Amino acid sequence: MAEPQGRTVKDLMSSPVVTASPSDTVAQAAESMKAAGVGSVVVVDGDRPVGILTERDLVKFSASGGEAEGAKVSEWMTADPDTVKPSEEVAAAFKSLSEHNYRHIPVVDGDGALQGIVSLRDMMRVARIVPVDPVTEVPPGLEGVVVAETKIGDVRGKEGFFHYRQYSAVELAEKRMLEDVWHLLFQGELPTKSEREKFIEEITPLRVIPDDVMKVLPSLANLGDCFSPLDAARSAFSLVVSSQDFKPSLDADHEELRKQAMLSCAVFPSLVMALYRLSEGKEPVDPDPNLPYAANYLYMLTGEEPDPENARAVEQYLIATIDHGFNASTFTARVITSTGADLGSAVLGALGALSGPLHGGAPSRALDMLRDIGSIEKTDDWLRDAVGSGRRLMGFGHRVYKTDDPRGTLLRGVAERLDKDGERVRLAKHVEKRAVEILQELKPGRSLYPNVEFYAGIVMDMVGMPPPLFTPTFGCSRVIGWTAQIMEQAADNRLIRPSAHYIGPEPPQPVPDPE
Ligand code: ACO
Repeated sequence: MAEPQGRTVKDLMSSPVVTASPSDTVAQAAESMKAAGVGSVVVVDGDRPVGILTERDLVKFSASGGEAEGAKVSEWMTADPDTVKPSEEVAAAFKSLSEHNYRHIPVVDGDGALQGIVSLRDMMRVARIVPVDPVTEVPPGLEGVVVAETKIGDVRGKEGFFHYRQYSAVELAEKRMLEDVWHLLFQGELPTKSEREKFIEEITPLRVIPDDVMKVLPSLANLGDCFSPLDAARSAFSLVVSSQDFKPSLDADHEELRKQAMLSCAVFPSLVMALYRLSEGKEPVDPDPNLPYAANYLYMLTGEEPDPENARAVEQYLIATIDHGFNASTFTARVITSTGADLGSAVLGALGALSGPLHGGAPSRALDMLRDIGSIEKTDDWLRDAVGSGRRLMGFGHRVYKTDDPRGTLLRGVAERLDKDGERVRLAKHVEKRAVEILQELKPGRSLYPNVEFYAGIVMDMVGMPPPLFTPTFGCSRVIGWTAQIMEQAADNRLIRPSAHYIGPEPPQPVPDPE
């Protein structure tokens, strides 16, 4: 904010001042304000200010239904107003104005006699200071800004580590099934054997798409070239939210929100797969109550029980992508919940944020890049051309990780396990290595490394997942994280409502008459 050096209040103040006496009526004071075209009168006893009556006070007065002719200024004024000295620097006066939320401050000399009045409008007009409430300027993209407290987990970018409720997410992906991690996020702890069984029993019936929604799915899937599984799943999920009458989070207690969250996480994968199959001209495959989450997910794609190795690969991917700090989609879910909106709306907004290529929309693009490069020999030319011409390498770079993304490392291992002849992974690893080196050379100091999306596309392709399902699959796991975050937000909520720094031409500009 630009503040003029050396300017004093005297340079800015208006003088003489429109005054009133405490015994004047409100009607008289209002008349004086109107006649002089000012927004306040200073109430004086002799030449000493004893109060201030502003337009705001008049509004309050008229709302009270009082008689302006009978009411005294002394009853409606703000008594003993803050004052400033004419010699005070503009910056200090401005600070006082904005800290106390006053619009006008009487200016008094050393003896306390009224000399003038200074207002925000004076400051704006003369000093070109933008009148704002106390603000904290934050970096573009809110980089590094902490906006909430959470017990769900966090991401330690420099260490290349992230966890869910204290447990390394990578270790969870190595050792546990998805339902365990879902339980951890929702219930706060990993389940015992019997808790797991009970949790799975709760999930299984919720996977079934409600009949009234199922009926509508063919129309969402039959959009020809315009069909997008993510858009369609979002629309279908919106119907689930309506059909189940999700209440605003402001009116729902934790138990109710948890029920909605359980349903959302269980049914979303079924919607994705049913819509995809319908778009391919096939009948949806009902979820198999005997299969765990990940195996059932692949089963709903093909109608066949999947190879356990493929199901495990998908499960590990899903576990590793459930939650990841205050990423853009999670933040979106939190913001929507902070308004008291229902859990479904928060998930829908988060899905929108996830769809962007800078967030969850990258894995199919990363796979396209690998296909385009095609061979080890072509790698360097392709990468140099891409980075040199200002394109972003999909699957590289991260807001928080300035080293290897641990999810990428995990998925590289999964890809190695799946790639029997090793050909594809050899190319991927070569591209990964050269991309890091070329980015270091052409984008020095940016610390760009592969992120989760680089190997995600490869792993999903290897298990037979069609590329249009990559981002919706990411959505399936992330809905667990989002809903855990939504419940946490709702439990201790305050509206998330930041500010923006206006940088356009200075107002007020008279509104021209229409031509
Ligand atoms: N390829 C080439 N250059 C890059 C890349 C990339 N993948 N990522 C960042 N840069 C460069 C930018 O061009 C910029 O350079 P400049 O200083 O010369 O302008 C610099 O690095 C910083 O980039 P920002 O966009 O400011 O970094 P930010 O932290 O905002 O972006 C992001 C992070 C969006 C992930 C970025 O790295 C990117 O676009 N990556 C490609 C898309 C991608 O892989 N997205 C998936 C992310 S993982 C997830 O969401 C699950």
